[in-house]
Amino acid sequence: MAKYRIAWMPGDGIGKDVIDAARLVLDAMKFDAEYVPCDIGWEFWCNEGNALPDRTVKALQGTTCGLFGAITSKPQDDAKLELAPGLKDKGLVYFSPIVKLRQMFNLHTNMRPCKSYPGNPLNYRGTALANPSGGEIPIDQVVFRENTEGMYGGIEFHPIPESVYTALCANPKMKPWKDKGLENLALSTRIVSIQGCTNICRQAFEYAKKTGRKRVTLVEKPNVLRETGGMMTRVFRKMAEEYKGAGIWADEANIDAICMWMFKNPQDYSVLVAENMFGDIVSDLCAGLVGGLGFAPSANLGDKYAVFEPTHGSAPKYAGQYKVNPIAMLLTVRMMFDWLGDGNGGGGPAEKQLSARLESAIARVVKEGKVRTYDMGGKSSTLDVAKEIARYAAA
Ligand code: NAI
Ligand code: MG
Repeated sequence: MAKYRIAWMPGDGIGKDVIDAARLVLDAMKFDAEYVPCDIGWEFWCNEGNALPDRTVKALQGTTCGLFGAITSKPQDDAKLELAPGLKDKGLVYFSPIVKLRQMFNLHTNMRPCKSYPGNPLNYRGTALANPSGGEIPIDQVVFRENTEGMYGGIEFHPIPESVYTALCANPKMKPWKDKGLENLALSTRIVSIQGCTNICRQAFEYAKKTGRKRVTLVEKPNVLRETGGMMTRVFRKMAEEYKGAGIWADEANIDAICMWMFKNPQDYSVLVAENMFGDIVSDLCAGLVGGLGFAPSANLGDKYAVFEPTHGSAPKYAGQYKVNPIAMLLTVRMMFDWLGDGNGGGGPAEKQLSARLESAIARVVKEGKVRTYDMGGKSSTLDVAKEIARYAAA
């Protein structure tokens, strides 16, 4: 029997292309796993009215962790139009299966490392004034994004129910939206909890402590989002006191301001922690500094289960063409090795070695520059890049 059971979720579009690349490398490395194919994504919404079928949820429960490609998600109105004829009038509501998965399995932490690998022509070089030599600016950041609540918690209304509206109208600030008609108003909420804030801050500080990183930055907007941002900031400040002894400097930035500072002085940042939506935004910015979505891996981590996925989506225009960069997916596989190596699923030093071997193979291929996908200015295919990485990483 294989050591691990990995839920295998290609999803949609280029999710299928990059997960093939992952398999090629996993096999070359002789990773001891059984892969359990799981249905997820747009075609299951269209044909069954459920992008995350119950059989998938059940199958996941019998696996060590999941590897996920990407899914296509569309706004509610568009989603309804694409339902199979027999499902159109059933009042089905589309939800993003990956968001649902994060909530169902309480994958409370989204970890997104953004690290530059030398020789990548897409690496950030700053401005002529800040960096006159024009050399690559080394970047090594890790974003900890709260993954189950906040602005993406999914508590939304349209039209706004009478009871919710009445409660809101107790606040005099509702005046501009009074008497507009409930069907003319839409509401998305931002609910955060002490538990959610505490957990994500804890993950960020513990990671900094474990890896010897010296700065943890909170990304929020408490001067405007006074209650939710205020709660997160209070939790962060209190926790920062605990880690002073470990020599960790904790500072705070507003989401808008950091988008500017990250562009000016990205090398100064190390660990970033944020609520769901702000973490989503700032991590895409960080990804841009290290080569874009072709270089951005992520992990959805819970206490006992995890799902690993590249940050990018299904990029429909490249679907099935094997053109996109597999490196984001392969760095994602590396995160899976690290998680297993930390003792999850019974792993240890062997998995840590797999992680190190895979990362150095990726770094080598980036540096040599012989095999590159279109985003790096090359003409190689997804699988050509994967094969080259597999050659160096092979057992
Ligand atoms: P996207 O990430 O799919 O692609 C945007 C662009 O980034 C692509 O057109 C391509 O130019 C580039 N890109 C992405 N991955 C790349 C790679 N591996 N190598 C090279 N270039 C790459 O975002 P988009 O176009 O906004 O969304 C497409 C679909 O994906 C939508 O339905 C969206 O809802 C969904 N999506 C799903 C996510 C997920 O599965 N977690 C995350 C983001 C979007
Ligand atoms: Mg995003």
